[in-house]
Order: sequence, then C-alpha cells, then structure tokens
Amino acid sequence: MAFFSSKKVEEIKSAADIVDVIGEFVSLQQAGKNMKGLCPFHNEKTPSFFVSKERQIFNCFGCGEKGNVIQFISKYKRIEYHEAIQFLADKYGIEPDRKDSIKKNDSVEKLYRINELAKQFFSLQLLNLESGNDALNYLKSRGFDEQILSYFEIGFAPKSGNQLWENLAKNFHDYELVEAGLIGKNQSEYYDIFRNKVMFPIRDETGKTVGFSGRIFNNEENTAKYVNSTQTEVFTKSELLYNLDKAIPFINQNKRLVLMEGFFDVMSAYKADIKEAVCSMGTALTVQHANLIKRYTDNVVICYDGDEAGIKAAYKALILLGQVGLDTKVALLPEKLDPDDYIKKYSKESFRNVLKNNLYDQYDFVYEMIVSRKDLTKPAEIEKAKLALFEYLDKVASSTIREIYLKKFSNDTKVDYQDILADYHNFQLENRRRQSINQRKVAMTKAQTEVRLTKKNVEAATDKLLNYYALYEEARTLIRNKLDLIRIDNHRKKQLLMTLTQLLADGSPLNEMMVKADFSEITEEELQLLRKTPSSYYNEIEVIDCIETLILNRYEHEYEKNLLLQDDPNLPIEEKNKAVFKIMEIRKNINNIREKRHVKKTNSHR
Ligand code: GTP
Ligand code: MN
Repeated sequence: MAFFSSKKVEEIKSAADIVDVIGEFVSLQQAGKNMKGLCPFHNEKTPSFFVSKERQIFNCFGCGEKGNVIQFISKYKRIEYHEAIQFLADKYGIEPDRKDSIKKNDSVEKLYRINELAKQFFSLQLLNLESGNDALNYLKSRGFDEQILSYFEIGFAPKSGNQLWENLAKNFHDYELVEAGLIGKNQSEYYDIFRNKVMFPIRDETGKTVGFSGRIFNNEENTAKYVNSTQTEVFTKSELLYNLDKAIPFINQNKRLVLMEGFFDVMSAYKADIKEAVCSMGTALTVQHANLIKRYTDNVVICYDGDEAGIKAAYKALILLGQVGLDTKVALLPEKLDPDDYIKKYSKESFRNVLKNNLYDQYDFVYEMIVSRKDLTKPAEIEKAKLALFEYLDKVASSTIREIYLKKFSNDTKVDYQDILADYHNFQLENRRRQSINQRKVAMTKAQTEVRLTKKNVEAATDKLLNYYALYEEARTLIRNKLDLIRIDNHRKKQLLMTLTQLLADGSPLNEMMVKADFSEITEEELQLLRKTPSSYYNEIEVIDCIETLILNRYEHEYEKNLLLQDDPNLPIEEKNKAVFKIMEIRKNINNIREKRHVKKTNSHR
C-alpha cells in the first residue's frame, strides 16, 4: 500500500475541492453561502444535504451524515479511508510519499491502465469518429442517445485489424496487452480481439475498468452475440456485476438493488430512472455475486426476462440470494418481454410501477409460476398445477404458509378447499412413503448385518415346539396363547400342530394311535417329533424362545409382503399408505422382540 504522510493528505484535501468532488455525484444548487442537493445517503424528496466550500465539509440535516471530502468518498464509494485517499490522489495526480514496490500490484495496476486507455479509445471511436457511425446509429435506433452512451461509457471497436494495438503499443509491451485480454497474436502479427463491436466497458465496484463485453450490431451470422475479455487477474465474470459502481449511490438511496439479465436492460432501466440496476454477464448468478450484493444492501429485486428461461433463472437466483440472507422479490414481466422491450412497448412509468407495486415475494412468485401457465378451467391442468404446488408446499416449513396457498388455490380453481386439503394430506403420506423407501434401502443394508432368522432356525423351533406341545401340558398353555401370532412355514408340521391342539384340548396325554387316525399318512419321522427322548425335559425358557422365533418368522414374512405392496404401482394410494404404516409397526415389533432376546442372552451370560 502506498504511504501518504499527513502533510500529503492535507495537500490532497486542498487540491480536491469538496464542491467539485461531490458535484460529480450529486447535483448541487447554490443555497446562500452553501450548496445543497438531495442526500446520497438517504432517500429524500427535498434537499437537506449541504456542502460548504468555505469549510470544505458536507452535512446532511436529514440523516446526520457529515465529514470532509475524504470521508465523503469513503462513505459514498463504501471504501476504506486510505482507499479514499488513494482515489483522490489518483484523481488529482498527487504522488504518495512512498510507493508500493510489490511487483504483483504493478502488473494489476497495468491491467487497470490498459483497460482504462482502451475504454477511452473505444469511446472516441463511437462518439467522435466517422468509423463508429454505424454502431452509433444502431444504438440510437435502440433508443440510446449520446448522453446515455457517455454515462455508460459505451464505445466502438473498429473493424480493421489492429487499431487498438497500434494505439496502445506505444505505451505498453505487447505481452502486457495480450495479458490484458485485448490483443491476440497470430504467428508474428498482433491483432485486436474486439473488432466491429459495440463495446461495454466492465468496471469493478470501485469504478476501475477491468474488461469489456463486445456486441455484434449488424446481424452477422455464425457469430456469438457477445464476446467478453478473456479472464485476467482483474476480470472474472462470475465475480463482477455490470454497473454496480455507478449504481451504489442509488442503491443507498432506494434501499434496494435491481438485478437484470442484460446490459441493454440496465441502460433502459436507467432511462426509466431506475438507476440502481445491475446485471451479471450472461452467467448464472453466483455466490460471489450474492456476497458482493450483500455488501451494499439487504434488498434485491430480480427483474429478469419474462420468458421461460428468465423465470427459471429468477427462481434459482431467488433461492441463492435467500441463502446469503438477502430479502429478495421478483418483478414478473408479461408477454415474455425483457425490461428493455417492456419499457419500449409500454412506458417508463409503467415499468417503474411494476418495480414498485408488482413485486412477488418468494411464495407468491412460486405460486404464480405454477399457476400462471396453466388453464385452470381444465381438470388435467388443475391436477398438474396442484401436484407442483403440493411439491413446493411440502418443502415449506410453515403450516400457515401452506394453508394460505392451499386456500388461494381452492379459490383460483373453484375446487372445494376440503377436497384439496384431503388430497394434500394423501400427498404428504405418499411422500413419506417414498422417504421410507429410501430409509429402507439404508435399513436393508443394516438388516443384512443383523442376525436374521434362517430357515434352519425356523425348522428347529418348529420341531421343538411340536415336541413340547406333544409332551408337556405346561407348554401347551403357553403355545395356545400365542397360536395366532406364530408362523410355521412347513405345511405338514403346521397341520400336525393343529391336529394336536384339537386332540389335546381336554388335557389328556398324547395317544399316538389317535394322531395316526386323525393325521393322514403320518411318517415315522413326523411321529418321532412327538416322542420323548432320553435327554428331554421341560424347559420353559426354551419354549418361549421357540414361540418368539416363530412370531419373528411371522413378522418377517409380513414385513416383506408389505414392502412389495408399497412399491406396487397398481395399488391404490390408500392401500399403499396402509402398507407404510404396517411396515413401521412391524419393524417396531421385530425390534422389541430382538431387544428382549438380547437382554435375556446377556443376562444368562452372567
Ligand atoms: P439484446 O439482445 O441486444 O437486447 O442484448 P441483451 O443484453 O438484452 O442480451 P440477452 O438478454 O440476450 O442476454 C443477457 C446477457 O447475457 C447479455 O447482456 C450478455 O452479458 C450475455 N450474453 C448474451 N449472449 C451472449 C453470448 O453470445 N456470449 C456471451 N459470452 N454472453 C452473452
Ligand atoms: Mn435484450
């Protein structure tokens, strides 16, 4: 950073007359000894902003801002005090006591100077030289006169190959011009990158020219409409907003920034007295843009083109700006018009009115987006709009907002609110079902690592259960109580258990002959299941364990069945929802049993 001693700062102050400096940004009129104008720091209709030539200070009786010329620049341009000193020193050609000798800064400074000189060159071409006549006529035909072209510093890049190079090569090395992105090299020849183009200088927020955007103006075929400077150390499209530097005081005054798509939109807006407009340069809005805006205001009005692409981009920008905490509204232009066309077709006043009274907040905008392109007298269109609205509302947290927009929708479609509400609740359930499918995918992989019942487990539990039932009266009571809950996969064994429950209903001991009579073609193997072995004795814990295994077996089967149901595309939604609840219930039951068994096992280890 360059160093200015306090003596130097005094020198700057006396060179930079406060009336001259402020007069460049604020229109001032004589008021007695002083000058007065509309305060750039707050919104007012009658001037209360005074500048004293005698005392070299400014003072606003409306908002209380006051200070010297350096403080004015610092506040107005929202730059640091030392940067304001540097700004004025540059402007009035005052050298610092010590210069910064860091190389990198030198190269950056050079980029600024090259771009500044190029801007002057292009401007001269457009406004003062005959070669720029066609371009000038084109711009005039689009409604931009010399005054507005000067304000935006619009220029013209001549047709012939290397005029800019010839002009700048006197003061800079060729490689520096190439580095600045304005000159290209072709074998041994240097040539201008921008030829036969309307030139928009791009300035950073402090007002330094950092690059250009050039537009074709005579319908050349097979050429891009716009060409930009290549990226340099000072020119990164994704971080720059066109016209921000000049918009800052108006952003301050109007307490908002208006965001547009194109250069011509910004220029037309200016003509309509919307001077707080900026645009990104063809790229989608970035987080860097959003943060840059946040430095100057908390309020943004998006005014993109009214076509499909513009509306989509506006939605994205709305979300992005919201994420950095900006309060954002959207102005919707009809008939697919962009701001430039709108102003031409209607009027400046009408445009100003749109930006004042026709602003949609986030919810209104999305609602409008969903509803406006649908014919709400046609059932199929209503259904489409309804689903899109549900989709959005389900993401919005507040139920107040949901209610408001569902009612609005009911009103707009003349469909009974209760019906819409019922549909919405079904939609929510369906959404949850979908979510549960996703959760299930996670749960399934988890479940695979968990111990699940194997066929062998179930077979063994079935055999033991039959044996206990056949032999021990105590076991029969336990088993009979749970008969409805268990599942036995093997059909023969299931039948066998049924036969036993009938035969042994009165508490009498088992008689093999009766079993043989009641259970057709019973095998030796099956009979074996009902007989006492030398090692068998009654163990209640084991009985309960068998019962639980078979209950788990039933749950696991039902679980699988309902998983299939909830995925079945042909099933009515009510049935699917039932399946979702079933799944959750079953999962809970399975977990309960598993948990209980786990506790039992760990206890038995003690
Ligand atoms: P007009 O069509 O002349 O009214 O210009 P516009 O500025 O309104 O352009 P438009 O709405 O088509 O595009 C919006 C912005 O996107 C422009 O201002 C440019 O910054 C950028 N842009 C448009 N076309 C191109 C292109 O072909 N190349 C590049 N690099 N940028 C473009
Ligand atoms: Mn346009």
